[in-house]
Amino acid sequence: MGNKFIVIEGLDGSGKTTVIYRIIQYLNKCGIINVITTREPGGTPVSDFLRVLIKYGGPISDPIDSISELLMIYAARFQLVKNVIKPALSRGYWVIGDRYDLSSQAYQGGGRGVDMLLLQALSDKVTSILYPDLTFYLDISPELSVSRIKNRIILDCLEQEPLSFFARVRSRYKKLASEKKNIIMIDASQSLEKVSAVIYRYLDWWVNKL
Ligand SMILES: Nc1ncnc2c1ncn2[C@@H]1O[C@H](COP(=O)(O)OP(=O)(O)OP(=O)(O)O)[C@@H](O)[C@H]1O
Ligand SMILES: [Mg+2]
Repeated sequence: MGNKFIVIEGLDGSGKTTVIYRIIQYLNKCGIINVITTREPGGTPVSDFLRVLIKYGGPISDPIDSISELLMIYAARFQLVKNVIKPALSRGYWVIGDRYDLSSQAYQGGGRGVDMLLLQALSDKVTSILYPDLTFYLDISPELSVSRIKNRIILDCLEQEPLSFFARVRSRYKKLASEKKNIIMIDASQSLEKVSAVIYRYLDWWVNKL
C-alpha cells in the first residue's frame, strides 16, 4: 500500500510537534490524506491513564521506581502498537509517531541508567512487532531544550531533571542514531525551514514512488 510508520524523536523543545504538523501538511499536499499521529506515552484509554502516572508521578507516599516507570511506559506502548498503530497501518494509514521505542532507550537507558538487559528485552519485543520505516532524530543541546520550553507553566517529572540528565539522554540518542538502521539525525538548532527541508527530501522519495 506504500503507507509508512515514521517516528520523530528528540529532547523536549527539539521541534517534534512542530515538525509533525508540517509533515501532515506536506503529505496532504501530495494527496495523502489518510494520516494519523500518535504521541507517547498515551494514545489508548489505558495508555493515557498510564501517561498521567508516568508524567506526573504517583502519590508522595508511593514514589515511582525507575523500573516501574519503564514497565508502565512499555505497557502503554504495547497497548498503542497493538490497538492503534498496527490496525491503522493495515488499513493503509500513514502513522507519524511523536516518540517511540528510541525514547525509552535514550531516557530510561541513557538518562536513568536502568538495567540494560531488561530494557533490551522489552525493546526487542516491541520492535519485533513493529519497527519504524524511518525515524528522524532532532538533535539539540540540553541548554537549547531548556530555553525552548522555559515558558511552560507545568513541567512533568522528566522535564524537572537537571541538565546532566539531558546530556546523558542526548548522548545515548546520538550513539543509537549512529548504530541503528533507518535513523536520520538532523541538527535541529537550525531554522525550521532547514529541518523540514531534510525531512521533505525523504518523504519525496517515497511519495514519488507511490
Ligand atoms: N528549528 C526551530 N527553530 C526555532 N524554534 C523552534 C524550532 N523548532 C521548534 N521551535 C520552537 O520550539 C518550541 C518547542 O517546539 P515543539 O513544541 O515542536 O517541541 P517538541 O519537541 O514537541 O517538545 P515536547 O517534547 O516538549 O513536546 C516551540 O515554540 C517551537 O515553535
Ligand atoms: Mg511536542
